[in-house]
Amino acid sequence: MSSLDRIMSRRSIRRYKAEKIPQEILEKILEAGRHAPSASNEQPWHFIVVTDPKLKEKFSTGRWSGFVKDSAFAVVGCAYEGTAHSRKWSVVDTAIALQNMAIAAWSLGIGSCWVGDFEELVVKEMLKVPKVWRIIALISFGYPDEMPDARPRKALKEIAGYNQF
Ligand SMILES: Cc1cc2nc3c(=O)[nH]c(=O)nc-3n(C[C@H](O)[C@H](O)[C@H](O)COP(=O)(O)O)c2cc1C
Repeated sequence: MSSLDRIMSRRSIRRYKAEKIPQEILEKILEAGRHAPSASNEQPWHFIVVTDPKLKEKFSTGRWSGFVKDSAFAVVGCAYEGTAHSRKWSVVDTAIALQNMAIAAWSLGIGSCWVGDFEELVVKEMLKVPKVWRIIALISFGYPDEMPDARPRKALKEIAGYNQF
């Protein structure tokens, strides 16, 4: 499958098989994040891999996050906010790295879903995240136990223009 096919066929996967993901595969996914571009190559990110079933359970209490407990692991994306430069770009950089992980996972036959349904302060406390870091989102990963239809997308002419908005 080409990279383009992988991007086009990706879906948010919220049902997972109860199958462990080998450590070397997990690390490949993290490596895909590590190789993401970042403004001035600052790499202002930190990733917390959540494998502990009790922690995964705690991430599953929101209205839109119930599936996290069934995932093999989740990656929590933290963005550094300690300098003016990092405050401007770290969320962008960290999001790019997380999406690299999602696409890499899909290439390896692993499904994922972004999760924005969490209380940042609660999660910071739970995972001992220092004050100067912000949590932007997490992504749950696991072998897919579903293949949802593609969600609708806006038409290209609605979202892209040539030489003007
Ligand atoms: C920043 C962000 C936050 C999201 N948060 C959630 C969430 O909390 N729960 C959930 O089930 N899906 C969440 N999603 C997944 C979106 O619902 C999904 O990407 C969208 O409906 C398009 O579907 P697709 O990913 O299958 O193409 C989130 C996606 C993004 C990018």
